[in-house]
Amino acid sequence: MPRPDTVVILAAGQGTRMKTGAPKVLAPLVGRSLLAWVVDQALGLEPKRVIVVVGHGADEVQQAAAGFEGADRIRFVRQEPQNGTGHALQCCLPELGPDPGVVVVLYGDMPLLTRASLERLVEAQAATGGGAAMLTAKPADPRGFGRVVRRADGAVLRIVEQKDATPDELAVREVNLGVYAFAGRELVRHLPLLSNDNAQKEYYLTDVVARLVADSKRVEALVLDDDREAIGVNTLVHLAEARAVLQRRVLEEHMLRGVWIEDPSTTYVDWGVKIGARTHVLPCSVIRSGVVIGEDCEVGPFAHLRGGAVLEDGAAVGNFVEVKNSHFGPRSKAKHLAYVGDADLGVKVNIGAGTVFANYDGKHKHRCVVEDGAFVGSGTVLVAPVHVGRGATTGAGAVVKRGSDIPAGETWIGVPAKKLEKPNGGPTPAAL
Ligand code: UD1
Ligand code: CA
Repeated sequence: MPRPDTVVILAAGQGTRMKTGAPKVLAPLVGRSLLAWVVDQALGLEPKRVIVVVGHGADEVQQAAAGFEGADRIRFVRQEPQNGTGHALQCCLPELGPDPGVVVVLYGDMPLLTRASLERLVEAQAATGGGAAMLTAKPADPRGFGRVVRRADGAVLRIVEQKDATPDELAVREVNLGVYAFAGRELVRHLPLLSNDNAQKEYYLTDVVARLVADSKRVEALVLDDDREAIGVNTLVHLAEARAVLQRRVLEEHMLRGVWIEDPSTTYVDWGVKIGARTHVLPCSVIRSGVVIGEDCEVGPFAHLRGGAVLEDGAAVGNFVEVKNSHFGPRSKAKHLAYVGDADLGVKVNIGAGTVFANYDGKHKHRCVVEDGAFVGSGTVLVAPVHVGRGATTGAGAVVKRGSDIPAGETWIGVPAKKLEKPNGGPTPAAL
């Protein structure tokens, strides 16, 4: 696969139609931002550099992007004010220099394009010998996209924006996705010559296409087979559509690695979750980014695993259990109605129904440790920090006070919980 030299991501637009006030490209989508998905698309092409054009909320966007994987290869260019997609590229001219090699342009709001489609784009551009290639689609709803005007012989002539189109042009089904690969030398030659004499008084990047054609350069338009890839996020409705597609892709990757997902349509697993083979994820479970789950585990139905949850092999988290920032050792279980927050559980610990790790005192979070083989009885409240020793037991409804240290093998019951003195050191009553 030929590698592009530069990928430019346009992300300066305001995203007013989102109605959220926040920069659109930072909208969360299956565990990371819209822009993080697009940066991933860019890095997947293995370019020498990635330029992100920022404008609205520039500081916030740059700050967020500093935390992305591959952030060291990202350069930022500011576009103020935002005078159109052509203007966005004009702002990159100093960064691009006179011959930037092959330049791919992506939009910060199109998270669904696949690696395969982008590779096809780069290959098609290489075959034009100094021209350009672009992605198009024929969706049922053109959504205000620019239309692709072709000559009678099928060659691309130009792109016309919906707001500038004649009724005949509006009837064209093929739309421009705004994703291109250019011979950089040609791009930088034409950019300064764009005019804003159009309905939106903007500098249109699309006009570079007509200019290349007029200059006898070839422009190849590739129609996407699956127009779901073409979803651009302009509203929260589009964000939900994109979410559904990306969620399905994430779940399919897990299934193909041997994770049993009983009902993908009600299972929410963010990007950036690790799940081992033979683990079952049952319906209506929510697993957030950063969670790590071993092999042969069981999660759900109706489980909520939040950031920092780690389940080792054979662990189980059942219905209406929330786990946050906690470690389950091998074969440890919390099967029903529990909150496990900021806790470290050893091997084969049993957390009874209704157990609450009261980790927050209103100001600070504290951790609890429950050692191997301990049995935390139903309805126990552990007011953190608490240490439960190896093989220790708490009785049903016990409230274990802050700072308690239950020695190995002891049984504590009651409110506040105290050591159960067994008559003559006999066995723990079965009722507990
Ligand atoms: C553009 C295309 C249109 C195509 C559509 C696909 C032009 C002139 N038109 O439409 O043919 O069908 O995309 O989505 O290019 N942006 C900037 N700076 C700007 C303007 C936009 O960075 O000054 C960024 C936005 O953040 C966004 C992307 O460019 O990521 C597209 O902007 P948007 O306004 O949605 O596209 P249109 O210009 O309407
Ligand atoms: Ca626009």
